[in-house]
Amino acid sequence: MLGLGVYRPARVVTNDEIAQRVDTSDAWIQSRTGIATRRIADEEETTVAMGAAAAEKALAAAGLTADTIDLVIGATCTSPSQIPGAGPQIAHRIGAGQAGAFDINGACAGFSYAVSTAADMVRAGSVRHVLVVATERLSDYTDWDDRSTCILLADGAGATVIGAAETDEIGPAVWGHDGSRPEVIRVPGYGDNMFRMEGQAVFRWAISLVPTVRQICERAGVAPDELAGIVPHQANLRIVEALATGIGATNAAVARDVVDSGNTSAASIPLGLARLLDTGEIRRGDPVLLFGFGAGLTYCGQVVRCP
Ligand code: ACO
Repeated sequence: MLGLGVYRPARVVTNDEIAQRVDTSDAWIQSRTGIATRRIADEEETTVAMGAAAAEKALAAAGLTADTIDLVIGATCTSPSQIPGAGPQIAHRIGAGQAGAFDINGACAGFSYAVSTAADMVRAGSVRHVLVVATERLSDYTDWDDRSTCILLADGAGATVIGAAETDEIGPAVWGHDGSRPEVIRVPGYGDNMFRMEGQAVFRWAISLVPTVRQICERAGVAPDELAGIVPHQANLRIVEALATGIGATNAAVARDVVDSGNTSAASIPLGLARLLDTGEIRRGDPVLLFGFGAGLTYCGQVVRCP
């Protein structure tokens, strides 16, 4: 990962503001999810605009210009349209005129799926630089009268440039799915564009993934107590902490960006990673575990060296 960039919408929405519309409270939301505030995009902060802003920051951090990018992968489940995807629009907006462009819809695991896809393409020698842009505007799909989901969902973007390095800095992906329960997280489409979720079922499934997260360390040859940081998908602070504690990541800084940013699906991992870097809890070159999980149900994770 040669550089990282994020975009957080300006508007902060508090739990009290949500409690004005649905029957809930700041205390309930904080105790069950850890979320204190979330960012909600305004009209101009589209999926493409937020993604492009994050992409430009990632390019600057990597010391690269857009014309050196061979491929842009949009990681999103909230592309502004079914077709075209967000990737080509972001590529155009940032001036990556030579780049191929497409989207990966891996829902909340999308960033990890895209990072591994990009890394393997770099290893294969088919591209030099890939821009992975995770960008989500979940507020467009939020039923603001459904208290079980509107308290969680939020907007934001994070991007990274993947390119060759002296040593292998992106560990093997561990991924999988349970397609037998597609109904537990869904945006049905065809007349119902709202995000629906069976929260408890998702919660239990996410917690059951502790052995999978341990496997990510094993495949990377890094013991859990050697991790400097752990960035699980920022869905719920209780899940984040259960996964970190469950694998015995005793020395790792744990991403808690969900507290301020809510659940931004694919964007939540780069947002969480960026906050740990900004606060100095992790540093460039540190081993950090990323783990995305969500709709599908799908999951994907890897150990990376911090950009
Ligand atoms: N305020 C007050 N009460 C509420 C609220 C609310 N916002 N939401 C639900 N309740 C009530 C329910 O109606 C229920 O009441 P009842 O007992 O009278 O029936 C009670 O609280 C308990 O409901 P549960 O659904 O069991 O609450 P739970 O503790 O499971 O918390 C939550 C719900 C926060 C959604 C939790 O299940 C969760 O976080 N699940 C995982 C979500 C997730 O990880 N998603 C990731 C993938 S999706 C994505 O990332 C885009």
